[in-house]
Amino acid sequence: MKAGPPRALRLALAGVAVMLLVAAGGETSDFMPKGGRALLVDVVAPTAADLAAIRQEKRTEAQWLEFAKAQKKPLTEKEQATLAAYLAVNMPTANGAAALPPDGRDLAWEGCQSCHSLFAGYLTQTGSATRWRNMFLAPFHRNIRMSAQEREEFARYSEINMPMKVEDIPAELRF
Ligand code: HEC
Repeated sequence: MKAGPPRALRLALAGVAVMLLVAAGGETSDFMPKGGRALLVDVVAPTAADLAAIRQEKRTEAQWLEFAKAQKKPLTEKEQATLAAYLAVNMPTANGAAALPPDGRDLAWEGCQSCHSLFAGYLTQTGSATRWRNMFLAPFHRNIRMSAQEREEFARYSEINMPMKVEDIPAELRF
């Protein structure tokens, strides 16, 4: 046995620390690269009618990449890839679903910090989509409440957008 508090307690404390810091600093996920949902809504900014049409379409990722490029919007290549992956994983959306499905940034911000910080295990990590898919198979991750579709979205976003540069991560989240 190692000295110090048991792992579960350390993790619980780290989780509480994250929540307190996030609450205190008013920190949001804005420092992270936008995911596909945010790119669609904030940058592509389709009209309600266009969005309704997009939400009914099933296209391959290559086709969605063409779509992203055709937008004539200031999207970097990474952003185009992020948007195409998001649309390929998430479109069409369920009939009548009000909100767009969460993107990788939403999922990381909401889904990981209840147990540990994002810095060491996520924001500074390089990983293929396979690596991120496999992360969900660890015994301590199996019960994460994310659907198969959400896990896939998370894996694709993370492959394209991680790691971040340390200097782009708010100092209070670097633990
Ligand atoms: C239900 C609690 C819980 C949630 C939610 C959670 N983790 Fe973990 N995570 C753990 C535990 C427990 C460990 C093991 C820590 C240790 O070894 O000290 C761990 C370890 C890790 C590790 C290192 C070991 C490995 O598998 O590579 C990474 C990376 C990681 N988590 C990433 C994530 C990411 C990304 C998310 C969000 C999608 C996440 N975790 C969400 C509990 C959680």
